[in-house]
Amino acid sequence: MSFLDSNLLDSNFIENIHKKGSIPSEIFDYKFYLIWETLNFYVQKVAQRINNTLKTKKINEFSLSDKKRDLYKWIEKASINSVQNVTEEELAKKLLLYSPELKTVLNMIKVAEITLLDYFFENKLPQKTLTSPKNLSLWYKFFSNDNPIYNVNNKLLKWIMKKLEFPKELKVLELGGGVGSTTFSIQEILLDKTDRLEYIYSDIHPLFIRQVKRKNNFPHLKTIHLNFDKPFEPQGIPKNGVNVVIAVNALHNAYHLEKTLLEIYNSLSSGGYLIISEAVKIYKDQPIALEIIFKQLEIDIQVTEKRKSSGFLEYKTWCNLLQETNFSNLTVYPDLDSITSLYPRCNIVAIVARKA
Ligand SMILES: C[S@@+](CC[C@H](N)C(=O)[O-])C[C@H]1O[C@@H](n2cnc3c(N)ncnc32)[C@H](O)[C@@H]1O
Repeated sequence: MSFLDSNLLDSNFIENIHKKGSIPSEIFDYKFYLIWETLNFYVQKVAQRINNTLKTKKINEFSLSDKKRDLYKWIEKASINSVQNVTEEELAKKLLLYSPELKTVLNMIKVAEITLLDYFFENKLPQKTLTSPKNLSLWYKFFSNDNPIYNVNNKLLKWIMKKLEFPKELKVLELGGGVGSTTFSIQEILLDKTDRLEYIYSDIHPLFIRQVKRKNNFPHLKTIHLNFDKPFEPQGIPKNGVNVVIAVNALHNAYHLEKTLLEIYNSLSSGGYLIISEAVKIYKDQPIALEIIFKQLEIDIQVTEKRKSSGFLEYKTWCNLLQETNFSNLTVYPDLDSITSLYPRCNIVAIVARKA
């Protein structure tokens, strides 16, 4: 495959995807596809280099723990189809040309390469380094709406919030709110739609909570510490207590996703919405560039019969898990079933589900 052959450089092709997938082009604009494709090519090159190192040092897949083997296989898979006529450096340059803000993403990938090799060769747990105070400023920048690879999930959520009908008295719970890039981008929309709004931002990370508290100048916005791996009720969210639960790029981190979904279901009042905006796989084991970072943050998640590995989930798995938790009226934006045969790397979606 050649970088320049990518038919995504053709704007008719993009228009066609938008039409078929029922999404407005301002969310996934031309530049976004260009960045997304180039980043995937870039990470293929990085994965290829890591794969060569692992092979040269004679790492034997079968002697690895399950968690390491899962990462090993991801690296192997991600390095396949690496483009021939362009170097890693040229791809990095292209990315920075498309957006200088991508420096943060490239830096994060560099850190992720080091932590991954340290995990294999020195058994150092990657989460510790990735979330260390030294790297925290990278995360603030990464989770920002200035990051063109990150803000698209927030744009999608915003678009959905505009479309949905909500009760005039609305109570919203946001899970894994991070530095608040989702939180602050939807307050005006919600205020316009309601007579009385209560918005509960939550996260597990005290520094993120503190940052949002500092920025907050909305009287209706409350910040709480909530670990979504634990029962919600003792953490201040009663059963049937909220009308909407929002989670942007957060729930794939859940230690035991089925349990977390049940907690969410129980916290919603009847007719309530769960809105997830996430990166997803289109087909089984599809490697997604950003997993080079996020898979390492999740090596502790509990794999189950339904969730077979860490990293982003297949969108069909999300739909199955939601249905099994009793959620109904599932809608996926964009309509992936209609567009994946055309474009199998449309990995950014939002799923809206309702409690009957
Ligand atoms: C990718 S960030 C999403 C941030 C936010 N949605 C945004 O767009 O700015 C994922 C967030 O999930 C949080 N998180 C991870 N595990 C969690 C858990 N068990 N309970 C609550 N939050 C968690 C992390 O601290 C992080 O802020």
